Amino acid sequence: MSHSELLVVENLSKTFKVPGGTLKAVQNASFTLGPAKTLGLVGESGSGKSTLGRAVLRLIEADSGSIVFDGVDIRSLSTKELRLKRKDMQMIFQNPLSSLNPRMTVERNIKDPLIIHNIGDAKERSHRVRELMERVGLSENMARAYPTELSGGQQQRVVIARALALNPKLIVCDEPVSALDVSIQLQIISLLQDLQREHNLSYIFISHNLAVVEYMSDAVAVMYLSEIVERAPVDELFAHPQHPYTRVLMQSVLKVPESLAQRSTFSTLPGEIPSPINPPSGCPFHPRCPLATDICRTTKPEEKMVGDQHQVSCHQAGVTAQVI
Ligand SMILES: Nc1ncnc2c1ncn2[C@@H]1O[C@H](COP(=O)(O)OP(=O)(O)OP(=O)(O)O)[C@@H](O)[C@H]1O
Ligand code: SF4
Ligand SMILES: [Mg+2]
Repeated sequence: MSHSELLVVENLSKTFKVPGGTLKAVQNASFTLGPAKTLGLVGESGSGKSTLGRAVLRLIEADSGSIVFDGVDIRSLSTKELRLKRKDMQMIFQNPLSSLNPRMTVERNIKDPLIIHNIGDAKERSHRVRELMERVGLSENMARAYPTELSGGQQQRVVIARALALNPKLIVCDEPVSALDVSIQLQIISLLQDLQREHNLSYIFISHNLAVVEYMSDAVAVMYLSEIVERAPVDELFAHPQHPYTRVLMQSVLKVPESLAQRSTFSTLPGEIPSPINPPSGCPFHPRCPLATDICRTTKPEEKMVGDQHQVSCHQAGVTAQVI
């Protein structure tokens, strides 16, 4: 384990009890994230991206695995210790209204974490709120507005200001621009990038949109049916995708900003997503994989290194040059 990493996640798993049985939402997820870096997390709907993001912040409890954040074993913290650590770890959701209190003004929403954590006196808090509002591009006269009176882009700026209030080190951004008008998406992405540079923030950036992830990320993890099936530095992954699933996903990738007009880049993938309650035997991708062979149906592929910091779970990766 490198001491230069801010976050080290190893073999994190999470299941949910559902009427049909036990649903494997995340299985054995491992990754690292350095300070001021972004890990992009991509995969189809239901692949486990949000569950992984929430489990890392302990907004939901993982079943097993370890999360070391800033040198601290997050899973062993008491509720009180976790509450203190939460200052350093924030989350931004797709729907800004879901994380704002509609009965509170913009100013009060942004101030809320400062009050909860008892930071500063009234004057200092008000000053901090003005500072944050200015930084995220909200005019002062919006302070007394209520969230529902703002546009989606403005609401997300309030959420970002609120997330920044406690000077976090890590923000999990779960589809932060997907619900916004196309014209606003690039503004919010640029704001997140500027804030990252200014505050040395690390992001886990979850998105359906591979082009946005390519634009934002230093490294990318690709999830399929609850598992990270490929992980690599962003340039390496886009230049040499190894997993057949990643390759299919990438076939229709456009560049930002063109891609912002496109809601999903996953429309070309054939076949149904299998049930996470009864996942397929062997490689979970085998029912949809154009390269599947007998071993794929019976034996789960181990994760293997196929390049510098490039890991992939596929029997055929690195064996032959594949063309899909
Ligand atoms: N609280 C829950 N109870 C039961 N099942 C859940 C719960 N939360 C998530 N799941 C299931 O876990 C799996 C992973 O869900 P998750 O929301 O993490 O996927 P996702 O990759 O974020 O999808 P999307 O792109 O649609 O947001 C899905 O099958 C989902 O139905
Ligand atoms: S292990 Fe087999 S089925 Fe799975 S992705 Fe690789 S080739 Fe396809
Ligand atoms: Mg999600």
